[in-house]
Amino acid sequence: MRVLGMMSGTSLDAIDVALVEFARDHDDPSLLRGRLLHLGEEPFPEDTRDALWAVLPPAPADVATWNRLHAAVGDAFAEAAAAVLAAHGGADLVATHGQTLHHGVRVDGTVHATLQIGDASRIAAATAVPVLHDLRTADVAAGGQGAPLAPLLDQLLLGGQAHPTAVLNIGGISNLTLVGAGDVLAGDLGPGNALLDAAVHAATGRAADLDARLARTGTVDRTALATLLADPFYARPLPRSTGREHYDGQYLRRMLGEDSLAALALPDLLATLVELTAVTIARGVAPLGARRVVASGGGIRNPLLRERLAARLAPVPLVDADELGIPADGKEALLIALLGYLGAHGLPGTLATRDGTAHTGASRPVVLGALTPPHALRHLPVPRSDSTAAANAPVDSTPVGRLLLERAEERA
Ligand SMILES: Nc1ncnc2c1ncn2[C@@H]1O[C@H](COP(=O)(O)OP(=O)(O)O)[C@@H](O)[C@H]1O
Ligand SMILES: [Mg+2]
Repeated sequence: MRVLGMMSGTSLDAIDVALVEFARDHDDPSLLRGRLLHLGEEPFPEDTRDALWAVLPPAPADVATWNRLHAAVGDAFAEAAAAVLAAHGGADLVATHGQTLHHGVRVDGTVHATLQIGDASRIAAATAVPVLHDLRTADVAAGGQGAPLAPLLDQLLLGGQAHPTAVLNIGGISNLTLVGAGDVLAGDLGPGNALLDAAVHAATGRAADLDARLARTGTVDRTALATLLADPFYARPLPRSTGREHYDGQYLRRMLGEDSLAALALPDLLATLVELTAVTIARGVAPLGARRVVASGGGIRNPLLRERLAARLAPVPLVDADELGIPADGKEALLIALLGYLGAHGLPGTLATRDGTAHTGASRPVVLGALTPPHALRHLPVPRSDSTAAANAPVDSTPVGRLLLERAEERA
């Protein structure tokens, strides 16, 4: 089954895409092979990004604005999907995460609701391919955090290791999965790039401090760092999740106070925020006994953050996911493609722990996603004419135990 996975994280920097051909191993049906046909980024239209930035918390937004953005984000994803499928061949399924508008965390840390926008009907209309979407709400309905979703992929790729590995992704928010040490443990660790990007954007209008050019010229403000580290979020046990509702455009003002924030020069503020991300990740990893940290996400492309994180983690080594054959930039889109494959086969998208609950804290692992049009996959698997899948193969509902990646893609 060929699946196009599409993801846009809290950074709003691009639509990440992964076109993957999934097939069960002939001899071992619990082994899933994923051939990476294409990994890349499609542009996020600037006007839609600006409109999203303008309505993200704590800005007030009316329902009409959200409705318009639901369609606009749907169009952006539809255009991205159509472009990838036109250039790299069709797919049996498009799986889309969409854009998180709101992730509602109660004061006690439980999640009451989560909302991803990006109208799936528009993607289906533009591609004539069925679309699996809304990948978090089923877990929230079962009492889970609806996040992070990466652990299933992390477990299938790295769970067989002899030593515990911490799998880290530094997007807008940083999150972590511990595999290879009994039950998978996972959660969001802290701000990742979100506060950095917001501070640069507020001061310069630019989306990010590219290559940490500004942060490198600054000095960490120890008082401000200590104040930021006092956020009770860091003391919450895993699984925990967070988002832009917490690390919003007013977060630094609230935490540091208007005057102290104004007194910080931009490079010093950025240096302090880089250190905050490095420290919160290192503190999250420290108690887990991981032998190494395997990292992905845009944050590892920030050279100063990488350096500071490696220094804070030492002697635990920081390894690029790429070095293990896992695409560091396309990992989240690959994850969405995998969730598409699993959802289409009626297989859960979260992991079971020993007591039968899900890694997200839900009462049980559940099948994730909603399908449009709803009848599209009833004859699954539908071998496409050029697919290698044998015609009339039985629907493969064997749980997947391992994912083996094969790289056939060209990088866009
Ligand atoms: N060369 C770089 N220098 C500094 N920061 C970078 C660089 N490349 C990527 N980033 C950071 O990574 C972010 C994008 O990471 P990504 O993993 O796509 O996050 P998300 O999943 O939230 O979309 C950018 O917003 C930026 O903060
Ligand atoms: Mg991104």
